[in-house]
Amino acid sequence: MKKVLFVCLGNICRSPLAEGLAIHLAKEKGVSDQIEFDSCGTSHYHIGNQPDERTISNAASNGLKLDSKARQFGKRDFRDFDYILAMDAANLSNIQKLDQAVQFGDKLYLMRDFDPEKPGSDVPDPYFGGDTGFQNVYDILNRSVNNFLDTELI
Ligand code: 4NP
Repeated sequence: MKKVLFVCLGNICRSPLAEGLAIHLAKEKGVSDQIEFDSCGTSHYHIGNQPDERTISNAASNGLKLDSKARQFGKRDFRDFDYILAMDAANLSNIQKLDQAVQFGDKLYLMRDFDPEKPGSDVPDPYFGGDTGFQNVYDILNRSVNNFLDTELI
């Protein structure tokens, strides 16, 4: 069993969508019994909250139902997960700071390390923008999560 953690700032926009997509795509690819997914945020801002309404409605319009409650990243996640995928460079840097003995660097990635179209860039934060930002995030995550599953886990 491989365990994969998606991380953003609030755990109400990007990472819950990545988690929902990954659950869906893993089922479609017939590997859902081999991989577990979770998501969290580097901040405490929205602990216990459901995803943002705009995330829920974007997911629904793309055929996904999200089922997650926000939690904050904690140091035990370094041991609990095999892959820790950060949505942007700021979140990756905040996670790296918590890895004080620099033991877990080989588990840490940017989500878009796996985006064939613009590898290594940030998944833009849609929180302060309009609805098109959410569909843009969906399209980026769909490509990136698909490619991640195909190249790393299948
Ligand atoms: P997320 O988006 O990191 O993709 O969940 C955000 C959610 C909340 C805030 C910022 C980004 N905020 O500042 O509260």
